Amino acid sequence: MASGRIPREFIDDLLTRADVVDVINARVPLKKKGREYTACCPFHNEKTPSFTVSPTKQFYHCFGCGVHGSAISFLMEYEHLDFVEAIESLADSMGISVPREKGSGCPSEAQRQRSKDIYTLLEEANHYYQLQLKGSARAVEYLKGRELSGDISKRFNLGYSPAGWDNLLKYFVRQYSEEQLVDSGLLIKKEDGKIYDRYRDRIMFPIRNRKGQVIGFGGRVLGDELPKYINSPETQVFHKGSELYGFYEARINTQKLERIVVVEGYMDVIALAQFGVSYAVATLGTATTPEHIKQLFRAVPEVVFCFDGDRAGREAAWRALVNAISVIQDSKEIRFLFLPDGEDPDTQIRKVGKEAFEMSLGNAQSLTSYFVENLHERFNITSDEGKARFLGEAAKLLKQMPDTLIRDQLIKRLSEQTNVDVMTFSNRYLRTKDRPESGSKSLNRINFSRLSNREVRQTPVRYAISLLLNKPELVQTVENVEQIILSQLPGSDLLTTLIEAMQENPQLNAVALLERWKNTELEAPLSHLMMWQPETDDDDILRRELQDCLRQIRKRANEIKLEQLIHKARTSGLNEQEKGEYAFLSQNHD
Ligand code: CTP
Ligand code: MN
Repeated sequence: MASGRIPREFIDDLLTRADVVDVINARVPLKKKGREYTACCPFHNEKTPSFTVSPTKQFYHCFGCGVHGSAISFLMEYEHLDFVEAIESLADSMGISVPREKGSGCPSEAQRQRSKDIYTLLEEANHYYQLQLKGSARAVEYLKGRELSGDISKRFNLGYSPAGWDNLLKYFVRQYSEEQLVDSGLLIKKEDGKIYDRYRDRIMFPIRNRKGQVIGFGGRVLGDELPKYINSPETQVFHKGSELYGFYEARINTQKLERIVVVEGYMDVIALAQFGVSYAVATLGTATTPEHIKQLFRAVPEVVFCFDGDRAGREAAWRALVNAISVIQDSKEIRFLFLPDGEDPDTQIRKVGKEAFEMSLGNAQSLTSYFVENLHERFNITSDEGKARFLGEAAKLLKQMPDTLIRDQLIKRLSEQTNVDVMTFSNRYLRTKDRPESGSKSLNRINFSRLSNREVRQTPVRYAISLLLNKPELVQTVENVEQIILSQLPGSDLLTTLIEAMQENPQLNAVALLERWKNTELEAPLSHLMMWQPETDDDDILRRELQDCLRQIRKRANEIKLEQLIHKARTSGLNEQEKGEYAFLSQNHD
């Protein structure tokens, strides 16, 4: 991350001083409701507010789409800033200037400058290719032959890279260094050091990120040569796993974005848009990733995957399902539409028109239905062995699903169809030992909605973490941290890490701590537990509750220690110290 050179303490300090309510309220007017503020979520479409901001925690969270974070993350999401830019903007609004750690050449600054140059370079290349398209009757003819309108070609900024090895090279050679040209992905360096244009005699499709900046290109041959498409390689600004072709265009050309269709090709996105289905996006010659789906879910509640009806399409659809499964949510819908064999969205919409196409999107198969259907195609459940394999395969996927109603329904359906009751199915297949219920992993499975008191209090570890996040001062009352981990309870490692960090940095509020753990595996469980709100503000009560949790955790730790001692006594005997310990623990054991 480019944050390296801004001192950590400055960011901590900034987050302690900034008020997330002010930051958000200046952009999205908030209404006070109890101890919190609410608004309709700016990151997804909704009619009733589920976006809440907590002034005490300095934290925002949307119960609809799950976005959450600090003032810094809000600025990043809302204003499309990167981490450093968000810090600068926040500091700026508070009249503070951002200090930089000294160091030779300040690489992060240089790096940032370099990506800025890459964006400019790519935008200029985009402009260049568009000009070349105007100049090439052959390329224009090709697009006409594909029945693309001039309007739609312009809307997607289609271009043409002329034949020849060094057109772009010559065009750019005075402005940019060789290194920049190669870094942009537009030129290729041969082993002998010579560089040449990557795209030659191809229709060019500029790919934009969500801010609208050009980050790469796809290029299609005009005839039948191979490869049919070439895409930019991964570069500093182009990451196939998290970018989608047409996402930016879909946002700016759709009045109210409520659904997104994921298709396979550039031409599909464009043809659909030409016929008025402006909300299609395509992956960039790769499978859909969970990251893609997360991004789509932030924008819309419904995602329809549209695939060709052939075998390749079916395979791609199943891969999409497998990748989607870890990010499903009850408030979001994923569906699958299979086109007739031999058609892709481009040909299909030309055949049936907008209305019929949208009708078929509306009737597309649900994720659960496709899930079950696919398993039935692969396994024959008329035999007991087939049934077992069917359920085994289903269980592999179910284990990756967040705890949702969708999952429950699926389990119910599978159990009905196989005549294996839900309890047997769960016990035998879903609770196997390959998913250890220890460590912070199990805390990761808490879902989006605000945790109820019951859920938080269910385990003393969870409750303790929530209490500490709500009232960091309580950490002063915690002693003997090392005992917690001995309890081996799920999440005890997380609780220990949290306590140690809080004791080391007593000046930090919870959100500043969370910011430190951003993008680590601690982020999700901690931010979920942070959303819970204790019923009371009373310090004494909260302190007593925390002490109760810790007592339970220690009791568990002692039980474990005792078990170990008993085991050792039976096998190799105890030494004097252990005997003492045993006597102590067994007396205090109730
Ligand atoms: N693709 C690719 N590299 C290839 C072939 C395909 O990256 N050699 C990607 C492209 O993103 C392409 C998508 O896969 O848009 C779908 O490929 P395909 O179905 O073969 O092409 P169409 O999109 O149907 O393109 P066209 O209609 O122009 O043939
Ligand atoms: Mn096609």
